Amino acid sequence: MQQSKYLDFLAEFGVGGAHPGGIELTKEIFKNENINRLSRVLDVGCGTGQTAAYLAYTYGAKVTGMDINPIMVDKALSRMHSNRLPVRVLHGSVEEMPFPNQSFDIIICESVLSFVDKPKALSEIHRVLRDGGRFLGIELTVNDPLEKELEKEIKEFYGFESFCSKHDWVNLCKEAGFENIRVKKNKSIQSPPDFQHSTDISPELYEVMAEHYNLNLQYQEELDYRIYTCTK
Ligand SMILES: C[S@@+](CC[C@H](N)C(=O)[O-])C[C@H]1O[C@@H](n2cnc3c(N)ncnc32)[C@H](O)[C@@H]1O
Repeated sequence: MQQSKYLDFLAEFGVGGAHPGGIELTKEIFKNENINRLSRVLDVGCGTGQTAAYLAYTYGAKVTGMDINPIMVDKALSRMHSNRLPVRVLHGSVEEMPFPNQSFDIIICESVLSFVDKPKALSEIHRVLRDGGRFLGIELTVNDPLEKELEKEIKEFYGFESFCSKHDWVNLCKEAGFENIRVKKNKSIQSPPDFQHSTDISPELYEVMAEHYNLNLQYQEELDYRIYTCTK
């Protein structure tokens, strides 16, 4: 993972639903999936665990959350504890996961893959998913190549590895071995904010937050996203 003040901001402010569309978009996506109390679900890069908690509460699914940031893991665990939800939350990287092959029926990844080595992460996701299992991703997607200067600025600020178009993502999923790849866009959904602030937030992270909202506003056309669903 690259150094990212943005990810530090998300962790210290405890921003839940830190993906485009937030939890309401997640709810829409799962309406089209076959999920029940027997489903083994992994939310990888789970952040503060809003999605993992929702899936355990709503469907009674056997949910595991995993994140590389220890602050996120603590906040997700505290969410599960206060809501009395039997969700396992682990510290670890999507690039090398501590699970045997075919451990999950569904894996969801919400705004995580842009921060990591994508082929490595997708091949790990494919490995730990059972045959016929589903991978669901909500990921940053550029419609056109960005100008060099802008690309550099955004990459440095967010700590992104690289930018992908819709076709790049589809090819990456294919190369990892996924089939039945579908791409959707849903820009109309918004969700209420969800925060779990740390007690002592570094002052510079307030500036990072302001910069993030500015960049988002200024480049909302360029920094688009898509929902990717596919089958192993
Ligand atoms: C934009 S946030 C999204 C969090 C959560 N999925 C959500 O929607 O609220 C990106 C998350 O990916 C996590 N992350 C970054 N690199 C990771 C890696 N290599 N393995 C697992 N999680 C990672 C970050 O710590 C952060 O919690």
